[in-house]
Amino acid sequence: MDHFQLKNGTLHAEGVPLTRIAEDVGTPVYVYSRATLERHAQVFRDGIAPVGKSHIAFAIKSNPNRAVLRVLAKQGYGADVVSGGEISRAIAAGMRPEDVVFSGVGKTRAELEQALDTGIGQFNIELEEEGVVLAQIAASKGMTASATLRVNPDVDAGTHAKISTGKKENKFGVAIDQAPAIFDRLAKLPGLNLRGVALHIGSQLFDLDPLEAAYARVGQLVADLRAMGHGIDRVDLGGGLGVPYKTSENPPSPADYGQMVARVTKGWDAMLMFEPGRVIVGNAGVLLTKVIWVKPGVINPYVIVDAAMNDLARPAMYDAWHDFAAVTPNGEKMVANIAGPVCESGDTFAMGREIDRVSSGDLAVFRTAGAYGATMASTYNSRPLVPEVMVDGDDYAVVADRIAAETILAAERIPSWLE
Ligand code: LLP
Repeated sequence: MDHFQLKNGTLHAEGVPLTRIAEDVGTPVYVYSRATLERHAQVFRDGIAPVGKSHIAFAIKSNPNRAVLRVLAKQGYGADVVSGGEISRAIAAGMRPEDVVFSGVGKTRAELEQALDTGIGQFNIELEEEGVVLAQIAASKGMTASATLRVNPDVDAGTHAKISTGKKENKFGVAIDQAPAIFDRLAKLPGLNLRGVALHIGSQLFDLDPLEAAYARVGQLVADLRAMGHGIDRVDLGGGLGVPYKTSENPPSPADYGQMVARVTKGWDAMLMFEPGRVIVGNAGVLLTKVIWVKPGVINPYVIVDAAMNDLARPAMYDAWHDFAAVTPNGEKMVANIAGPVCESGDTFAMGREIDRVSSGDLAVFRTAGAYGATMASTYNSRPLVPEVMVDGDDYAVVADRIAAETILAAERIPSWLE
């Protein structure tokens, strides 16, 4: 459920007509609903309630906007971060350092130091050498890093290859059969409090079976590690729950997921960590855009909008579907291709799709754009960096400015030897 609904013929975000935001802020612009964010945070928390002791670390890569993080911090969420920049954001948004989990396959020494100095709560170690280096840095500071070992359970999550992470050929985690020996060696190091294991098998998952299979394997690993004498008090189950990008899609709900987790983790006696991203923010955002032209095409007309692949990369990168809807639909439909102004054919959002009839100057939205939308934006084709707005009831605020192409140009220089 989201708060982007038609009222008196105009699409609103909560109480605010999107026409008003377009007029005030311009397009393209991402629009988030605070009420939807809060609702999703609540639904996920309720869904996992049956599992017992748990901690939710929002995967901030999916939407790192500070206002979004602040909403989730107020909901008691921590953060799953993957870079020094994300650590800074989580803290700047008001998240407690101890509620921050540091994931990522390529953490640099500088980032490990920053994380230690910040006092973050958990490092998810991706390879043995990283654990050794982390232990050394922590010991040299007279600190102990709280950590888990990320394992690769070798299951096929059944999602797009580019967002699948739990197969043995993927770059993430240590092979599950090598985990006991690596854990044993790392657990002996001063500077490290290795207290559990972590996994994450992929994103936009529609089938709970691969997750259940992966969790069952990890459960066996936990039993084996305990039998070796290791104390295990937390298991990080990652993120990945899918969202409906089309109204016909029906992914498992957080409640379905929570029940599965409760069943498979029964008797684990460990704090369970969750790292949801998309399921919290996906449907809490739309990308508001304006139709520049409707260009006749050989087969279907091209609706050329002012948003492009640099603003919303998912269709070009993963052939992803985002529903397209007119802000003031007139009830008529058309079959069209939808594309942005960027100069490559990959800058296409849809081909031969039945959509609301739109004409030049009309406003429209791409739905379900709150996750992996603005955060993956670029300035390709020297386009401005897309701004973000958050709606709260009848009010809204610009929560990220449009960064003008001129501002970006001002950060570049021609060296004297080229003048
Ligand atoms: N934890 C870890 C370690 C992750 O790598 C990810 C996502 C998550 C949690 C959150 O997963 P979620 O709940 O959002 O599925 N840009 C792609 C998605 C990349 C996901 C990367 N990792 C897309 O637009 O579909």
